[in-house]
Amino acid sequence: MNNLSVPHLLGIRDLTLMDIETVFKTADSFKEVINRPIKKVPSLRDITLANVFFENSTRTRLSFELAAKRLSADMVNFSASNSSVKKGETLIDSVNNILAMKVDMVVLRHASPGAALFLSQHTSAKIINAGDGTHEHPTQALLDAFSIREKLGSLKGKKVAIIGDILHSRVALSNIYCLQKLGAEVMVCGPSTLIPKHVHLLKVHVSHNLREALLWCDVANMLRIQLERQEAEYFPSLRDYTLHFGLNRALMDSLQKEILVMHPGPINRGVEITSEVAEGPNSIILNQVENGVAIRMAVIYLLASDIER
Ligand code: CP
Repeated sequence: MNNLSVPHLLGIRDLTLMDIETVFKTADSFKEVINRPIKKVPSLRDITLANVFFENSTRTRLSFELAAKRLSADMVNFSASNSSVKKGETLIDSVNNILAMKVDMVVLRHASPGAALFLSQHTSAKIINAGDGTHEHPTQALLDAFSIREKLGSLKGKKVAIIGDILHSRVALSNIYCLQKLGAEVMVCGPSTLIPKHVHLLKVHVSHNLREALLWCDVANMLRIQLERQEAEYFPSLRDYTLHFGLNRALMDSLQKEILVMHPGPINRGVEITSEVAEGPNSIILNQVENGVAIRMAVIYLLASDIER
C-alpha cells in the first residue's frame, strides 16, 4: 500500500483526514522544489503516465503534465477529440491500448460520473480522477483547500461560501467533502434552480442571497455557470444572473471586511466575477493554479509508491 489509504484517487469522499494532511505535507515540499531554479526531482524516472481527456481542459491537463515532468516521469497525452474514439473505440479499449504501451498511471477526465471508478475496476492502471461529469474533481478540491491553508492557516472553523452553479459542479461536491473533513463550515449560494434539492444532506448552509453569503464567509469560491451541462433554462438571462450573483468591486467594498476570493477557472469575466475582483488584492486565483502543480506532484508521487518496478 502507498502512503494513502486508497490505491487510486477517485474522489475526496474516499479520503481520510490523514490522507489529505499527507498530500498537503508532501505538496509543501514539492512547492519548494517548483520555486527553485531547477524545478525538478528525479523521484519517478521509472514511471509513465497518460493524461486521458474526454473533455476540454487547460489548467488540469497542463498541471498534471507539468507535475509528472517535475517528478521526472514520462507523460503522454490522449485527447478524445483527435483519437480513435471518433472511429467508435470504447473507453476501456482505448485505455487498455494505452496500458499495453507500458503506462502505469492514467489521469482521466470524462463527462460521465463514475467513469474513473469504472476504469479502476476494469483495468490494471492506477487511476486519478481529473473530473468525472458533475460528480467529483478531487485534485481541484485539494489545491483549493491547500491555497486557503496557505493564506489563513488551519481550515478549522473557517467559513467558506461556494457560490454559483452548484447543481452541475464537480468542484462544489469535492470542495464540500474536503473542507468539512478539514473542519471548515461550508455554505452553498446560488439561485434555487442551481442548488441540488437534497444538498442539506451534505450538512451545508444554503443561501440564495449573495450579499448574505459574503457577509457570512471568510472565503468566497466563485463558480462559473456550466452552460455546456445545462439541458434546461435555470435563470432568465446571464444578465439577470450577474445582477444577483455576480461579484464586483462595489459589493466587495460594501462588506467592510476582507475575504479571500477564489475561482477554479475557467472564468467567465463579467458574469460571475468582474475582472477588477478577479485581479484584485483579495483574489488568490493564480495562487490556486500554482498550487495545483505541487498538489498534483504530491498525489502522483504518493500513489506511485506501490507501483511494482
Ligand atoms: N479548474 C479546472 O478544472 O479547469 P480546466 O477545466 O481548465 O482543467
